Amino acid sequence: MLSDQLVVERIRRDFPIFSRLENGKPLIYLDSAATSQRPIQVINAVVEFYEKINSNVHRGLYTMSEEATEAYEAARANVSSFVGCKPEELVFTRNATEALNLVAFSWGRANIKQGDTILITQMEHHSNIIPWQILSAEKKAHLEYIRITDDGLLDPVSVEEGLGKGPKIVAITQASNVLGTINDVKAIAKKAHEAGAICLVDGAQSVPHMPINVKEIGCDFLAFSGHKMLGPMGIGGLYGEFDLLDSMPPFLTGGEMIKEVNLEGASWNDVPYKFEAGTPNVEGAIGLSAAVNYLKGIGMGWVRSHERELIARALPLMLDENGVKVYGPTNPEQRGGVISFNVEGVHAHDVAEIFDSEGITIRSGHHCAMPIMNKFGIPATARVSFYVYNYGDEINVLMNAIKKVKRVFSVG
Ligand SMILES: Cc1ncc(COP(=O)(O)O)c(C=O)c1O
Repeated sequence: MLSDQLVVERIRRDFPIFSRLENGKPLIYLDSAATSQRPIQVINAVVEFYEKINSNVHRGLYTMSEEATEAYEAARANVSSFVGCKPEELVFTRNATEALNLVAFSWGRANIKQGDTILITQMEHHSNIIPWQILSAEKKAHLEYIRITDDGLLDPVSVEEGLGKGPKIVAITQASNVLGTINDVKAIAKKAHEAGAICLVDGAQSVPHMPINVKEIGCDFLAFSGHKMLGPMGIGGLYGEFDLLDSMPPFLTGGEMIKEVNLEGASWNDVPYKFEAGTPNVEGAIGLSAAVNYLKGIGMGWVRSHERELIARALPLMLDENGVKVYGPTNPEQRGGVISFNVEGVHAHDVAEIFDSEGITIRSGHHCAMPIMNKFGIPATARVSFYVYNYGDEINVLMNAIKKVKRVFSVG
């Protein structure tokens, strides 16, 4: 059995980006929650598509187009099995945002009526808030939020209160991109069903980081993005339970999503093509499939335990550091691979700039989750996020960078 250090060394050799320097220092990439880096296997898969089989899918009758179609559908089969669903239950989208909007637009407009309740949480990314705000305003429905505790967990009383309102849908993130909190979406999906609701899971921060099986979770929808899981940008997915998808009206319309069109009207293509209007991101799907192969090669169990170890090492150091405020659960077991923090008296953007001078790339800002910022009464946080290519030793560099911030600003 290779030690984590050796596994990470081997993994890093596949990522060309790590040969670059950041401000003259070795690149320490701690912004994978925003977007991950890509291994050469993914880059090659995309290049190979263009070099060898570039053509449109589902329409050409020539050999090369059939090969492109086969590769695209093979990608669907591979990515769907990665999240535990059937190929026809996986709609390729641009990203998690588009997948979430698809559900709100298509399922939501067909099923939400005046006076209905939509239940989400206070820890959602804007992409799982705004579509519901717009839908509820349009339909005169009630948008309710499950509150979070000061520890960054879902408030169990608020969960019960929300479900008690008889929502039609519960839309919830599996892992918070700010607080790191991992929500028990299996339990929530069960409770949602008992309350008569369907359950949509935002898997943008969970699918890349832990083994996921939608049938085990028992959710009705799951949204995710390829670029956060070693895949290309501009490709993502929506799992939808087949009968639900089948019953829903189209989202975007045009080519490929129809069966027949005449001047009077049109009929819709089968699921999932009904939801894939226009020329799809074929090379993106093929690249995402290569990313899935890469993650399967490492093992999602290893990915989760590696990140858990990094968090278990970094979190106590950051919690103990004078003048540093850490947000989210203090128990590493309740967290994914992100830690948001502030250095007291210093704006998060200044923290990020000093980190950058040390070769460490982190995100600062509201992380597209302003309701969380409001809950904690802050405008922004700095955020580090770990992935498969991060070494434990990088945490020492991170802690030294925090000390440098305190020195430069004479705080803490
Ligand atoms: C929890 C969560 N949901 C949704 C998204 C949206 O992802 P994308 O921008 O890839 O659509 C993000 C992105 O950071 C996220 O962290």
